[in-house]
Amino acid sequence: MVQPTTLGEFIVENQQDFPYATGELSHLLTSIRLAAKVVNREINKAGLVDILGAIGRDNIQGEAQQKLDVIANDTFMRALRSMGQVCGVASEEEEYFVSFDDDIHSEAKYIVLMDPLDGSSNIDVNVSVGTIFSIYRRTTPVGIPVTLEDFLQPGDAQVAAGYVVYGSSTMLVYTTGSGVNGFTLDPSIGVFCLSHPNMHIPETGKIYSVNEGNYVHFPEGVKQYIKYCQEYDEASGRPYTSRYIGSLVSDFHRNLIKGGVYLYPTGTMAPKGKLRLLYECNPLAFIVEQAGGSATDGKRRIMELQPSELHERVPCFIGSPKMVDTAHAFLRKYEE
Ligand code: AHG
Ligand code: MN
Ligand code: MN
Repeated sequence: MVQPTTLGEFIVENQQDFPYATGELSHLLTSIRLAAKVVNREINKAGLVDILGAIGRDNIQGEAQQKLDVIANDTFMRALRSMGQVCGVASEEEEYFVSFDDDIHSEAKYIVLMDPLDGSSNIDVNVSVGTIFSIYRRTTPVGIPVTLEDFLQPGDAQVAAGYVVYGSSTMLVYTTGSGVNGFTLDPSIGVFCLSHPNMHIPETGKIYSVNEGNYVHFPEGVKQYIKYCQEYDEASGRPYTSRYIGSLVSDFHRNLIKGGVYLYPTGTMAPKGKLRLLYECNPLAFIVEQAGGSATDGKRRIMELQPSELHERVPCFIGSPKMVDTAHAFLRKYEE
């Protein structure tokens, strides 16, 4: 039997492709890999032990925190703190960034931004959820506590990004800027194995993903694009199929493999869109571009945007490049 390449082996073998190859990023990815396995174990037990449901308080963004949001946040925080490579973490679940400024972290160069549990409203009904992470080098000098400035870097400065999808199988997909690779957890041995090497998103596809419950609130260009997706046109294979899980990671992962476009536009219910620039849009934008796709806010590349606050939200159009282009053409035509 051919031995699969494990994630651990892959990280070490590809370390030299990374511009600052000192091994520190490899250690950091190792702690993320471990935390993902712990969260996976907890999610698998949901329903058997009392970890389903809301915890009874809201996060900083006014969303009801689920018990597993907190478990995932604590697990990733602990794993990242346990290594000496990370000097600070910002999480969707925490109001302020966390600075690791003890002796162990005095030489640490990296900061991490994360959505510890994405799609958490789906947990109670056994639907796939995920984790999203984004890694940067700090911009302030090593040896002093990190500042907000370290976290407010444009996505183009990311050195690595990835996600875990806790689905019918659990996968970890990541990039360090030299393509995208996917690893499936073999639960019998507890090891992530390379299952999706060198992932490429199809140039176009037949899936559009959007919460159509918000349709009446969307800008006219988005409404017209959705109508276009639904119209019959044999040559371009329309009508497209609508697929929306409501877990961004899962919707994104499906479209990455099959081809498709995911939209979370502005609308009166969500004046700036819903998705978080730093924890959701930037990491997935880095991955999709590395896989040959596009990610924009409707006008500009997501990764060019200069963040102004940690929990900033932006509209997002992400997926197969030709589909994102067509959506843009509609936005331009009906610009309000
Ligand atoms: P989170 O669970 O991290 O707060 O993220 C939820 C996000 C994303 O996963 C999903 O695509 C989107 O919210 C769904 O929003 P709607 O319910 O408004 O469609
Ligand atoms: Mn999320
Ligand atoms: Mn979340």
